[in-house]
Amino acid sequence: MKRKKIILRNNKKIKVLYILRYTNTKFSGFTGNEVGDWMKQREQWTSKIGFVLAAAGSAIGLGAIWKFPYMAGTNGGSVFVLLFIICTLIIGLPILLAEFVIGRRGKSDAVTSLKKLAPGRKWHWMGWMGLGSSFILLSFYSVVGGWILSYLVRAIFFKLDITDHSELFNSIIANPLEVLIGQAVFMVLTIWIVQSGIRGGIERASRVMMPLLFVFFILLAIRSLTLDGAMEGIRFLFVPDWSYLTGKTLLMALGQAFFSLSVGVTAMMTYASYLQKEERLGQSAFNVSILNIVISLLAGIVIFPAVFALGQSPAEGPGLIFVVLPAIFNEIPFGALFIIVFFILLLFATLTSSISMLEIVVSTGIRNKYERRKRAAWMFGILIFIVGIPSALSFGLLADVKMPGGGTIFDFADMLTSRIGLPIGALLISIFAGYVLTTAETDDELRMHPLLNRSWKFIVRFIAPIAIVIIFIASFIM
Ligand code: PFF
Repeated sequence: MKRKKIILRNNKKIKVLYILRYTNTKFSGFTGNEVGDWMKQREQWTSKIGFVLAAAGSAIGLGAIWKFPYMAGTNGGSVFVLLFIICTLIIGLPILLAEFVIGRRGKSDAVTSLKKLAPGRKWHWMGWMGLGSSFILLSFYSVVGGWILSYLVRAIFFKLDITDHSELFNSIIANPLEVLIGQAVFMVLTIWIVQSGIRGGIERASRVMMPLLFVFFILLAIRSLTLDGAMEGIRFLFVPDWSYLTGKTLLMALGQAFFSLSVGVTAMMTYASYLQKEERLGQSAFNVSILNIVISLLAGIVIFPAVFALGQSPAEGPGLIFVVLPAIFNEIPFGALFIIVFFILLLFATLTSSISMLEIVVSTGIRNKYERRKRAAWMFGILIFIVGIPSALSFGLLADVKMPGGGTIFDFADMLTSRIGLPIGALLISIFAGYVLTTAETDDELRMHPLLNRSWKFIVRFIAPIAIVIIFIASFIM
């Protein structure tokens, strides 16, 4: 009997050591019950700021800085921008909050949480679907991460002081060796952070990096706005051309809102599962959403005035920021130095998002068995890299391969997730929060003003699901 007890203690001890090592978490200030809880294998964020930083870090990344400008550019500018803001506030934000509620209530990886909250039903498949979506998301996200590394290396060797940035970008993405090396290095960085538990450090570092990136964007915006002919870009971004108001633009804007809030793949659910009971979920969801809109708009205000002033096309596509940003830096004193710092900051923003995608896959894969974390991170990470290879080669060797929908393999992976996986995931999450969880349960998690609680419930029950279905259908017919 006594021996058994000691073994048990040792087991727990090992688990706790793993938790400490892999999460960089200090446990303090918990009540007896909570200690009991985490002894049953759950880690928690050390502080509110830890969670908000991680959630904001996951949200703010290439979605706001790379994808938003090019999506706006290829979808008519202002109308897309407007729809994106509306979709973020009316649909994205409430569903983000729904993920927080489900995650904290379930206190586990998405699949286990959903099983716990809806025993004997099929809802946990939603968790598996989220895992699939984030797997595909990361497979092409890492390709863009690799492009950033390529640019960073060139910036360090002062190779960006050229005139034709379009040509440079096209030559980089068409070079199979370069894109694959970039993607591989980016994946290794992501895996390394997820497996070694230095993510706490990364998130703390991003506390400095993110504001700095913000300052950089403000400076760039000022430079961009003072270029000759800049106003054209502002008009493009803010004066609506209603002819672009179509079902397809709406679905693109909705997909963009979900993508950039990291909603619909259970990433935020997973993050919230590590959260303490006291945190105010509504406030956190609101902050993340507003921050995301602000950064997206700022990215637009940097890019489009420069696009028009420098005589480039707003519909350049995925290369937009890579073509335009170095050109703006060329117009700034000490630009060659600043651009190095800028790409480092961008890399950070991108990594805090990519680790959240790998995290969902790993946490679901290991189901609270922390000792398997390291192996799982490498295994899934390498698998994701392999699946991403065709996306990486989409602009060179495999450029002629056309997928359903008419785009490249890279476009197809993006379409599968942003236009199908995330909206369906978000729809299910909203139905789950609206109908499966009781009002008593959700109120207990939300603890907002009763009027806000009720409005949220109304949105996740009716507005969000109906809007998603209508937008989905409309994208096929108008
Ligand atoms: N929100 C991230 C970005 O905008 O770059 C992308 C993302 C991260 C999507 C994590 C989904 C996710 F689970």
